[in-house]
Amino acid sequence: MSFCNLVMPIVRVSEQAALAVYPSVGRGDEKKSDALAVEAMRKELNTLNIDGTVVIGEGERDEAPMLYIGEKVGKGGAKIDIALDPLEGTTIAATGNSGSLAVIAFAEESGFLHAPDVYMNKIAVGPGFPLGTVDIDASPQENILNLAKAKGVSPAMITVCILDRPRHQELIASVRSTGAKVFLIGDGDVAGVIFASMADSPIDIYMGTGGAPEGVLAAAALQCIGGFMQGRLLFRNDAELARGQKAGISDFNRKYSLNDLAHGDILFSATGMTSGNLVLGVKEAAGGMFTQTLVMRSKTGTIRKVDTIHNVKCEV
Ligand code: FBP
Repeated sequence: MSFCNLVMPIVRVSEQAALAVYPSVGRGDEKKSDALAVEAMRKELNTLNIDGTVVIGEGERDEAPMLYIGEKVGKGGAKIDIALDPLEGTTIAATGNSGSLAVIAFAEESGFLHAPDVYMNKIAVGPGFPLGTVDIDASPQENILNLAKAKGVSPAMITVCILDRPRHQELIASVRSTGAKVFLIGDGDVAGVIFASMADSPIDIYMGTGGAPEGVLAAAALQCIGGFMQGRLLFRNDAELARGQKAGISDFNRKYSLNDLAHGDILFSATGMTSGNLVLGVKEAAGGMFTQTLVMRSKTGTIRKVDTIHNVKCEV
């Protein structure tokens, strides 16, 4: 099956997860919101004519009852590897804040890095810059100065998206020391990387450490948008090293390119749960429930926003 025929099916998968979470948004129950998203995503995936394998999922089989890594989904068909985060921004949804998403990506077999659930240092910019303009091994100052030069602007015109975490204090100070602005996000670095890489975005670059699975999902999106990304897994203790080994990682200091993280034909779909920088969130509308989804394909470079009115009422 061509990925072309899976565009609306993948949209439905993220839409269903977003709709399922809607009644729980703002109610402070992260576990419940997550469980609702996972269950709805899994149910919809199992209606598709695919032979799908979850490679980036909710965790190892023994810790995740559904959508665990290695779980098979679909009714049979083309072999597809799946990276998913049914609720990206659990805290955002539970607290009714901006920018939570239901996210899923399809790739041909072996198209995604089997990233363990550890942290990943990430750097990403949009398309059109000469190779080497930014590099994960360069200092934040060097990266900003080089990016500003490539854009023909002063460093003061550069805005960097960074997750608001104590671990990023030094990074934030380094960025500000160049005169560049910092756009802090509370959660949700899949959206952060995408937003930093899109044409017409007020953000120029993403920097910092977040989840490795989210890094693979962001790379899947970037393969569709175009752009540059690098990542490096971070192992903080023996348990995380063991997780890396289990995922087949042997070089623990490897610098991953965008292609290492995600490659080949890729479909990416993200539906808003709560409105954010990329898409609008779920809301009640005349005739049913409204969702907005960003759906993209790497092979064609197509980027769509799909607005849907679902003929359903969300029970609260
Ligand atoms: P969850 O939806 O799993 O809570 O992830 C939200 C998130 O902000 C990710 O986008 C990001 O990669 C990760 O958490 C960062 O982890 P931490 O909160 O430990 O800094």
